[in-house]
Amino acid sequence: MTRKSKAMYLTSYPAGLPSGDNFAVREVEVPAPGAGELLLRTVWMSVDPYMRGRMRPDVKSYIPPFSLEEPLDGGAVSQVIESNAEGFEPGDYVVGFSGGWKEYHTSPAEGMTKVDPSIAPLSAYLGVLGMPGMTAWSGLTQIINPKEGETLFVSGAAGAVGSLVCQLGKARGMRVIGSAGSDEKCAWLESEGGCDVAINYKNYPSSGELTKALAEAAPKGVDGYFENVGGDHLEAALNVIAFGGRMALCGMIALYNNTELAPGPGNLVNMIGRGVMAQGFIVSNYMHLTPQFIAEVGPLVASGQVKFRETTYDGLDKAGDAFVGLFHGENFGKAVIRVGPDAL
Ligand SMILES: NC(=O)c1ccc[n+]([C@@H]2O[C@H](COP(=O)([O-])OP(=O)(O)OC[C@H]3O[C@@H](n4cnc5c(N)ncnc54)[C@H](OP(=O)(O)O)[C@@H]3O)[C@@H](O)[C@H]2O)c1
Repeated sequence: MTRKSKAMYLTSYPAGLPSGDNFAVREVEVPAPGAGELLLRTVWMSVDPYMRGRMRPDVKSYIPPFSLEEPLDGGAVSQVIESNAEGFEPGDYVVGFSGGWKEYHTSPAEGMTKVDPSIAPLSAYLGVLGMPGMTAWSGLTQIINPKEGETLFVSGAAGAVGSLVCQLGKARGMRVIGSAGSDEKCAWLESEGGCDVAINYKNYPSSGELTKALAEAAPKGVDGYFENVGGDHLEAALNVIAFGGRMALCGMIALYNNTELAPGPGNLVNMIGRGVMAQGFIVSNYMHLTPQFIAEVGPLVASGQVKFRETTYDGLDKAGDAFVGLFHGENFGKAVIRVGPDAL
């Protein structure tokens, strides 16, 4: 039987900051599942900054651009309604990198992973136990390679990725400095989020001012920089980077809505004399290490040792607003959309 579902479309590619006008909900037909496929009902869906890159049809990227003719797509936790695949039963919950921005979808079972709501709330599989959590763990452990007593600087520290980086860095004995865009976020980072010092970057609106604040918080320099923001943050980090510093280049959200290429930081030369290593990465580079990530972070989340925040939006219709909110700092922790009325 073919079902109808609401699905969110991109109606136009944003120029600069995206707005609600770039999105519209339409009705689509959901085909019955074929062999090896599942019919799924979305329970929670994710909006993530990388999706902005998929809204630039003219830029070649590691992932193809969204089409204006197809529903948007992204990470989601769903419930199995019908299964034509071994190992999946109706009622199971699964997480996958596709399925989001729709209420129902048909998907190959391959690429869907069963998740257990008794370990953590289902939405956590889109955040701290999902792609952003894996990103945080990979960049920290595989690139920054922390050592006890070192100093770590994390930009975008109150976001889904940054908040886990801070806590994992702290657990490894680092002095942790985070930056975020509100006093409320900074207070949480210092009380629960693993930061020794949290800097509200909005109080330091130039790379020079940010450098001063960072240098005060990191008197011995920054050994590891986890880059989520770019622009002034990168320049400030390069000003205070220590000899032998390592930088995990994860994202540069401050640049994603630029309509022209921003000039690079003028102080890249610091990397030469200080022997700094910088490595860009995509979480999928490290997918083979997922069992290690889950083995470490799963118990920390289940026991409450790792704290995580979520900002919840209700209903597929709100997904465009949630996405736009990422670029205004409206989310505190992971932004998730409750699509199923029974979302656990
Ligand atoms: N390489 C990978 O595989 C990979 C995977 C996942 C994510 N990422 C990247 O990692 C970064 C963090 O992702 P996330 O999922 O943690 O993000 P998130 O939870 O969605 O948080 C995004 C946060 O970025 C901050 N922000 C937005 N615009 C900013 C600006 N112009 N200047 C400074 N801060 C700004 C906002 O917080 P404030 O209130 O602090 O401004 C916002 O809440 C992003 O750059 C993303 O693209 C990369």
